[in-house]
Parts: sequence; structure tokens; C-alpha cells
Amino acid sequence: MSKVTVVGAGNVGATCANVLAFNEVADQVVMLDVKEGVSEGKAMDMMQCAQLLGFDTNLVGCTNDYAQTADSDVVVITSGIPRKPGMTREELIGVNAGIVKSVAENLLKYSPNAIIVVVSNPMDTMTYLALKSLGVPKNRIIGMGGALDSSRFKYFLSQELGCNANEVEGMVIGGHGDTTMIPLTRYATYKGMPVSNFLSADKLQEISAATMVGGATLTKLLGTSAWYAPGAASAFVVESILHDQKKMVPCSVSLEGEYGQQDICIGVPVILGKNGIEKIVEIELNDEERALFEASAKAVRATNAALTEVGAL
Ligand code: 2OP
Repeated sequence: MSKVTVVGAGNVGATCANVLAFNEVADQVVMLDVKEGVSEGKAMDMMQCAQLLGFDTNLVGCTNDYAQTADSDVVVITSGIPRKPGMTREELIGVNAGIVKSVAENLLKYSPNAIIVVVSNPMDTMTYLALKSLGVPKNRIIGMGGALDSSRFKYFLSQELGCNANEVEGMVIGGHGDTTMIPLTRYATYKGMPVSNFLSADKLQEISAATMVGGATLTKLLGTSAWYAPGAASAFVVESILHDQKKMVPCSVSLEGEYGQQDICIGVPVILGKNGIEKIVEIELNDEERALFEASAKAVRATNAALTEVGAL
């Protein structure tokens, strides 16, 4: 039996659980939240869709009862506060670091072999915190940001190309921050052809900029951070792991020399399969992309330094 736990039944966590259940990614999905009744209610609401939509996943909700999460194959951590309009993801660190650390420790007590997918922001720093504080092998700690950012990138490309988003390929690497993301326009394709065959350099620059502030744009529109694509991106990462799909997905992972970096978690393409990170894929970056990656790593490191200041590491 395959089992996934999603901690945090807020918008992102509930959407992730919803996608996992509706797509029958796991046999069982447990949603856990600190707010009494919330995950129980959301799980019941979703389960009342089962016969309407014809899915078989067993979805249960619980309030802080980690025993119910026992023996999960994958755990997804979405807990913490989301950003409000005008806030950066980095500003959340003081509150979210303590939450993420204690949630992860509790999960591991009941699922010591679980693969951990980190969603809480600032995502790269929360992934690094999990890596440094839990003593779990690095292949089992994965930050999901790049999956989301790449999906937004493909959306913006498809809008400009006037095409089906499923016919566009592209990746965003670097940090999951408004100024640290690196949409790889040079490698993006439409039906296998470089997007530069169809769009001007200025247009590609605009798409890149829109992708980088994709989350902030939605936060402004919604008054809180987005959830449909963040939830679906988290479920996408879980599916590639649980079903051993070996998809190449940009994720925030621990680097030990790859891309010239170490002691950091940052977005790079990885192969996701039953062991979590099966492989880090080192793609060739040109001088400009390499400089952007170095600047991104520097910014992520500066945020990581705050973990010591807030006493989380
Ligand atoms: C976003 O980019 C929540 O960080 C997430 O929407």
C-alpha cells in the first residue's frame, strides 16, 4: 500500500491532497493540520467527491495526530504562514523555520524512511534546514519550487506563442525567489524547436520577468499566496517519486560540487524516482547563465544565514 502525508491543510496542502486523491497517486493520503477539525472537514468534503469523480484513494484528515501518518512513503510539508501582498518569501523565515523543523521531526518519528518534499517558504532555505537538522540522506530531501516555477514559465510561453501549454518544454533553475529564479529561455522549446524561432529576444525577456514574479503577481491579485499550481506542482513531484517515473524536474536539492556549489539547497534539474533524487543532471550553462546561477546561490546563502540568527540551526 502506498501512503502520502500532507502536513498543512491550508490552501496549498489541501490542493496537493486533492490532486493526489483525484488522480489516485497513492492508496492513502493523510492530511494533518494544527487547526482542530480543518483537515478532517476537508478530507470528508473531498471524499464526498469519490463517487462523483470515480476515484478510490482513501483520504483522511487529523488534527496533530502524527501516529496516523505512520509508514508514509512520502511526506509533504506545506506548514507555515503564506506571504501577504508586498512580502517576500524570505520574510517568512523566522516563523516558518520553527514550524518546519518540528513538523519534520514529528513525521520522521513515525515514518523514518519517508522521502520529504518541502513546500514551505522560503523554500530553498526550509529545504536546507531540513537537510541540516534531520540527519536524513540528501536524496530524500526535496524542495518543490522549480516544478512550480517551470510550470509558470511554460504557461507564460504558451500564452505568447498562442499554443497548448503541453507542447512547450522549459525549466527554471536557481532559487525559488522573485529575484533568484533563472528561467532557461535558451533551452525552452515549442514542439522541439527553440522558442527563439517564434519569439523575439525582448518578448523572451518579458516572459522571463513575468515568470520570476509569477508568485508575487498572484499574491497581489488574491491577497494571499497562490495555491492551485503550488499544490499541483507538489503532487507532481510526489507522483514522479511514488510511481518511480524518473521525470526530470528542477527541484531544490543539496549540491556537493555540482554546478560549482556546495553546502546549499537550490533548484537544479534532477531525476525523481522511488529513491527520491535519483540523479542530479548537470546541464551546460553559458557564461551569462552561470553568472546568474552564482548570484542566485549567493542570495539563497544569505537567507540561509538567517537560520542561525533565528536559532533554527
Ligand atoms: C508561489 O510561488 C507559494 O511560493 C509559492 O506561489
